[in-house]
Amino acid sequence: MFAFAPPAADAPKAVLYADLCAAARALTAGEPDPIANMANVAALIWEFVPDLNWAGFYRVAGEVLVLGPFIGRPACLRIGFGAGRIEGVCGAAAARRQTQCVADVHAFAGHIACDAASRAELVVPLVHAERLLGVIDLDSPTPGRFDAEDARGIEVLAAALGPVLAGG
Ligand code: SME
Repeated sequence: MFAFAPPAADAPKAVLYADLCAAARALTAGEPDPIANMANVAALIWEFVPDLNWAGFYRVAGEVLVLGPFIGRPACLRIGFGAGRIEGVCGAAAARRQTQCVADVHAFAGHIACDAASRAELVVPLVHAERLLGVIDLDSPTPGRFDAEDARGIEVLAAALGPVLAGG
């Protein structure tokens, strides 16, 4: 059994993301398989970050993001991010290699609705050694759910996990 527990519900976000990152590092240390690591990290995000309805990964395959390990409702399998075919919030994050923090997905042109309950979305690119590996995607049913602290927390997590998610 793994002994990782999220902090108290009223803990500051800085504490929450520091604890999440420490748990993710500990849980992935020594495991070379990126899919296994993504699966456990998706489960950790789900446990630690409140008010989500989807948390997981899309992996780069050429100019397409392919669905990876996640918690939530079944989701869109493939999302384009190549020139001339940038799809959704995930495609924008991958194409620009830039975090997308969307307060209201209904106002984001091209948003891909996998779960009608989703209202806010945070997508962080996963880059290791200048190679785009994929994205981390968080959805929430609460408009405006994610702020700069959430974005920074997931960016730090993505940077810490680059080596263990790169594989090989
Ligand atoms: N909403 C995303 C698609 C993935 S799901 O949210 C899991 C997008 O617009 O790229």
